[in-house]
Amino acid sequence: MKFATKAIHVGQDADPATGATIVPIYQTSTYTQTQVGEHKGFDYSRTINPTRLALERQLASLEGSEYGSAFASGMAATSAVLGLLSSGDHAVVSDDLYGGTYRLFSRVLTKYGLTFTYVDMSDIQAVRSAILPETKLFWVETPTNPMLKIVDIAAITALRGAGSLVAVDNTFATPYFQQPLSLGADIVVHSTTKYVGGHSDVLGGVAIVRDRDLHEAIKFTQNAVGAVAGPYDAWLTMRGAKTLAVRMRQHAANAQAVAEYLLARADVARVYYPGLPSHPQHELAKRQMSGFGGMVSFELKGDPRRALDFASRLRYFSLAESLGGVESLICHPARMTHGSIPKAERDRRGITDGLLRLSVGIEDVDDLIADLRTALDATP
Ligand SMILES: Cc1ncc(COP(=O)(O)O)c(C=O)c1O
Repeated sequence: MKFATKAIHVGQDADPATGATIVPIYQTSTYTQTQVGEHKGFDYSRTINPTRLALERQLASLEGSEYGSAFASGMAATSAVLGLLSSGDHAVVSDDLYGGTYRLFSRVLTKYGLTFTYVDMSDIQAVRSAILPETKLFWVETPTNPMLKIVDIAAITALRGAGSLVAVDNTFATPYFQQPLSLGADIVVHSTTKYVGGHSDVLGGVAIVRDRDLHEAIKFTQNAVGAVAGPYDAWLTMRGAKTLAVRMRQHAANAQAVAEYLLARADVARVYYPGLPSHPQHELAKRQMSGFGGMVSFELKGDPRRALDFASRLRYFSLAESLGGVESLICHPARMTHGSIPKAERDRRGITDGLLRLSVGIEDVDDLIADLRTALDATP
């Protein structure tokens, strides 16, 4: 089965009880047993729920696996993966990553004796130098957020020692454009809140692995901690995921056109988009990804306040956190998604006060470019 077929058919069998063609929302916390311990494979919905199971199968298949665990949010999925580590373990982490992931690692998990080293993972020598005897995990985000740097997943997996794992947050690329497990990664995490759900109407996360024992370990944490996707949220995410292929093609086509438009403007200082030949890792992106995604970051010339003024004048790009929905969004990372990172650290990573990040939606691209043009011309 090819990608778009899997998205519509895997996990989506007609309901065994009624024949309903679409997987029902099994809005139940528990299941009636005929005798003690005698049931149809479902005993309690924190442990297993048919709607969530259908979503887990569907999303695992999109990453080329059978083993998925769906959570209430991307952060819940991330924290379940980190639950594989023990006090004293160390992780090497991408230094340009989602601010909430940084917050979880630096302010919550360090309290439990985990240690983290943040490095520019686009520099493989820097990753190698960060490895310690107690390194158990490499946490990769690629393309990175918000600088859209590309990390060579295969090169990172080649550095992995016995007993250590490589996890990739594949939220930005989506499985449609990037398949980390096929590049040697052990774990893929998504905030399904973003492209997988695709309509900005539901939170969710998923952790997908190649290995059955690893899957069992994550399932154990999923059940023990309980941050599971509810049946209605699982159903909405599953419905969104069915159209992932067509949406991603349009997101990427629109983002490419927007990036090229911005690059051609004299009042734009920098444009970050892996699909531009001027992107420093364009060749790696072409090798590792089958498309460049829908996220574009850029820096305006002039006073940093211009960025805020510009962002508030747009008609179709809503000023909002998050990304990956059909509608276009704009965000000011320094004040919004990455506000929890200290300013000095933000500046070091290029997240300046003039930086803006676009989640380019699937509206007509002519309207999007006209909107950007009008707001840029109004804020010289
Ligand atoms: C790359 C990335 N990973 C993880 C998350 C966290 O996901 P959630 O908001 O669903 O918890 C986000 C959220 O913005 C994200 O952008």
